[in-house]
Amino acid sequence: MKEIQKFESITEGKTSVLVLKKKVSKKGPGSKEKGPFYNPAMELNRDLSVLVTQWLVNGSKKHVKLIDGLAASGIRGTRLANELDGDFDVTINDWGEEAHNLIKKNLERCKLKNAVASNKNLNALLSENCYRYIDIDPFGSPAYFIDSALRSVYNDGIIACTATDTATLCGVYPKVCLRRYGAQSFHSPVMHETGLRILLGFICREAGKYDKGIEPLVCHASDHYFRVYVRIRNGIKYADESVSELRFVGSDKLCLSKNLKINVGPLWMGKLQNKRVVQELRTILFEKQINTKHELWKLLSLLEDEADAPAFFYTVDGLASSLKRSLPKMKTIFEKLQSQGYNVVRTHFSPTGFKTNASIDEIKKVFK
Ligand SMILES: C[S@@+](CC[C@H](N)C(=O)[O-])C[C@H]1O[C@@H](n2cnc3c(N)ncnc32)[C@H](O)[C@@H]1O
Repeated sequence: MKEIQKFESITEGKTSVLVLKKKVSKKGPGSKEKGPFYNPAMELNRDLSVLVTQWLVNGSKKHVKLIDGLAASGIRGTRLANELDGDFDVTINDWGEEAHNLIKKNLERCKLKNAVASNKNLNALLSENCYRYIDIDPFGSPAYFIDSALRSVYNDGIIACTATDTATLCGVYPKVCLRRYGAQSFHSPVMHETGLRILLGFICREAGKYDKGIEPLVCHASDHYFRVYVRIRNGIKYADESVSELRFVGSDKLCLSKNLKINVGPLWMGKLQNKRVVQELRTILFEKQINTKHELWKLLSLLEDEADAPAFFYTVDGLASSLKRSLPKMKTIFEKLQSQGYNVVRTHFSPTGFKTNASIDEIKKVFK
């Protein structure tokens, strides 16, 4: 009886699961709280994983093996098992005993036959088995699991990972970033984009060790986390093509302030989105029962718009302050640049941000 009172039933998508009852602050529960972790603020993150795995299963002629590697309550893997159509199975793994028991309970409650609960260290499990989709949703950094995920993932499979160590990736702790990701980070108005590109650069270099290449399908920075879905392709050709997308970028190219120049990176300078995949995800979203449909639709629209835009962005407030001009309307900037034949799009990285192929000198002129 006491055991049952510890849990409450919640519903995401069309799946009801038991999660630990707890007092949650706006930022979500802390990782030090006892019992299997559940953060309602990550619902959109889980919703997107439902879309991406449905896209993967739709495009596969063979049975698809999926793993929710760091599952806690098991909500993500249980949702995949319950909400996807097609020929697939899901392994739902967590090394915690309490988490494992809760995952088993949730699978029983949902009467799911296409999912199994596993209670192992994820790195050990990935060394023993291969999967087409590997979901890594850790406390903090995914860096400790990328090597095993790359050895485990099938050719053309997807590694999905969340990083909540955004302060490290965004230049607040440059020493930590250097030792964890082997990259020089930088705190600037575009730090969310450089952080995301550092994470992808790290995955690209780890993949290169095994003669594998990466193709980011959908990547975003939202709230307190980064999330990337990366297709892995076997072969030296793909590895070499991917590594050729790695570059260092001078900090003077990332912000207009005159601080000492440092070389930021290595950064993944290839595309962050596959436009066609993002379009197909929007179609799948339309068909699924998803509570965050509205927010996710908005996010995917922005990602689609910026899929072919150049790397990095400007913010109207940032430009106005460094050029000592009054704040113009976003619409005015867009109209002026477009009338001169430049492409300009909004970016999901910042509500006041825009990406354009116009040079900084051209942009300065429209601020006059
Ligand atoms: C942030 S929680 C996962 C949240 C979950 N994916 C969700 O969407 O609600 C991270 C989980 O990883 C588990 N974990 C951490 N290191 C692990 C490892 N090496 N192997 C297996 N599980 C691990 C922890 O016990 C914890 O439950």
